[in-house]
Amino acid sequence: MSTPVKKVPIHLQSSQNRLVIKHGKIVNEDGISEDDVYIEDGIIKQIGKNLIIPGGTRTIDARGKYLLPGGIDPHTHFEFEFMGAKSVDDFYQGTKAAVAGGTTMIIDFAFPKPGESILDCFYNYRQRADDKVCCDYALHMCLPHWSDQVKREMEILCKEHGVNSFKMFMAYSFMLNDSELYSAFEQCQKLGAVAQVHAENGSIIAKNVEKILAKGIVGPEGHELSRPEEVEAEAVNRACVIANQVDCPLYVVHVMSKLAAETLALARSRGTHVYGEALVASLAKDGNHCKHQCFDYSAGHVLSPPLRSDPTTPLALMNFLAQDVLQLVASDNCTFNKAQKELGKANFTKIPNGVNGVEDRMSVLWEKGVHAGIIDPQRFVALTSTNAAKIFNLYPRKGYIGVGSDADIVIWNPNATRTISEKTHHHAVDFNIFEGMTCHGVPEFVIVNGRVIVDEGQIRAVQGFGKFIETPVFPPFVYDPSKLESLKPQRNGTDEQAIQNIREIEKIQF
Ligand code: URP
Ligand code: ZN
Ligand code: ZN
Ligand code: ZN
Repeated sequence: MSTPVKKVPIHLQSSQNRLVIKHGKIVNEDGISEDDVYIEDGIIKQIGKNLIIPGGTRTIDARGKYLLPGGIDPHTHFEFEFMGAKSVDDFYQGTKAAVAGGTTMIIDFAFPKPGESILDCFYNYRQRADDKVCCDYALHMCLPHWSDQVKREMEILCKEHGVNSFKMFMAYSFMLNDSELYSAFEQCQKLGAVAQVHAENGSIIAKNVEKILAKGIVGPEGHELSRPEEVEAEAVNRACVIANQVDCPLYVVHVMSKLAAETLALARSRGTHVYGEALVASLAKDGNHCKHQCFDYSAGHVLSPPLRSDPTTPLALMNFLAQDVLQLVASDNCTFNKAQKELGKANFTKIPNGVNGVEDRMSVLWEKGVHAGIIDPQRFVALTSTNAAKIFNLYPRKGYIGVGSDADIVIWNPNATRTISEKTHHHAVDFNIFEGMTCHGVPEFVIVNGRVIVDEGQIRAVQGFGKFIETPVFPPFVYDPSKLESLKPQRNGTDEQAIQNIREIEKIQF
């Protein structure tokens, strides 16, 4: 009888890997330094000059390049059943595309099926995702209805399953009314969770849709007509007002218009505790692409809230990101093939909403933000990684290059260029809204938990290599910023204590 071979979990097989990255410029949100980084067992173990490292360690020379904390995309919808279709990027293909573009963690939105409890929804998402993900992931939970059961199960998700964020909709058939939003925000505040809203006034949209269809406007151009900027801005304001009543930190997902961003800026200036997320699509494209005569092209640009026809929107949103009115750039990756988009060929309200972005988010933001001279590399890191880590309580394990942090690192060549195309992207989808766009900023190496997954531009994604990361409640950045400074790991050195401290962070009670 042969001895049974013990199967080593795939994420542990890599733990033998040792890696040193030399001569790169390490960019953190709070500064840039030129140091070497030594990685072992998936963790950053030393940062400095003239490090003493074991023989046989692989060396990558990053001279002339930046070392960025791996991107965290806080908004994806992989294998999402929505509007009669299922998004084609699944947890394998979606996370593979993410890593190819320099993103080493995603946060997906678990969305309950009709009649499914949010707890069952969570288990089902874990089951679907755990064996497929090529990088780490976490989950937000969507609340498509409100009840006492939902309220009870939110507590279980927060306390036992590492979910600290809940998304409520103010539009679509599953929107919550103001009183339900009030109760949901109140429960988030009590649990130490982050309330997220899709801010559009669903009742006004429904009336507008009737009128527009009656006029015979059925093509994709009707989409934005039915949900203009003020309909988004009204909902942003209402969400801020409701959150304020119960002192709940609020996160507005996909802020798509100047008017909505201005409303958010006003709320922030009044002291409302609110964060705003921009989508990469809105920084590169405007709503006029939905007026193209080719249906596949126009429908390929349909998402909600819509891309705005005001051509000054992309630059305005970039400026809001620079000024900290908005704090994050996400993708809202929710990809439908042309054939699926054609469900809405005779009626724009039936076009499955969503676009790609998880792969191109970092390159497009670099091009439109850093290369354009509007933001610096440090702000880029904050917008693509650190702020998401802080808001969802992953910092400084994620979102930071420091001793003790997870070895999620991108070696970024700011001088190389890449032209985006559906023909070469790593998505499952047959369309790319950034088709033909040339971007400076190429992730030449992407290191995920210490393992080189993109190696000189070649991707070697490993299905199931990623793991579920719990997001603990009461993120200090959101609930008690004064505690944040003490959490920061050292940027330099080899302190074993720092490594210990950061591993303990998940256990800290605030
Ligand atoms: O159109 C969009 N944004 N699709 C995904 C669902 C959502 O509302 O985020
Ligand atoms: Zn949404
Ligand atoms: Zn066409
Ligand atoms: Zn979304």
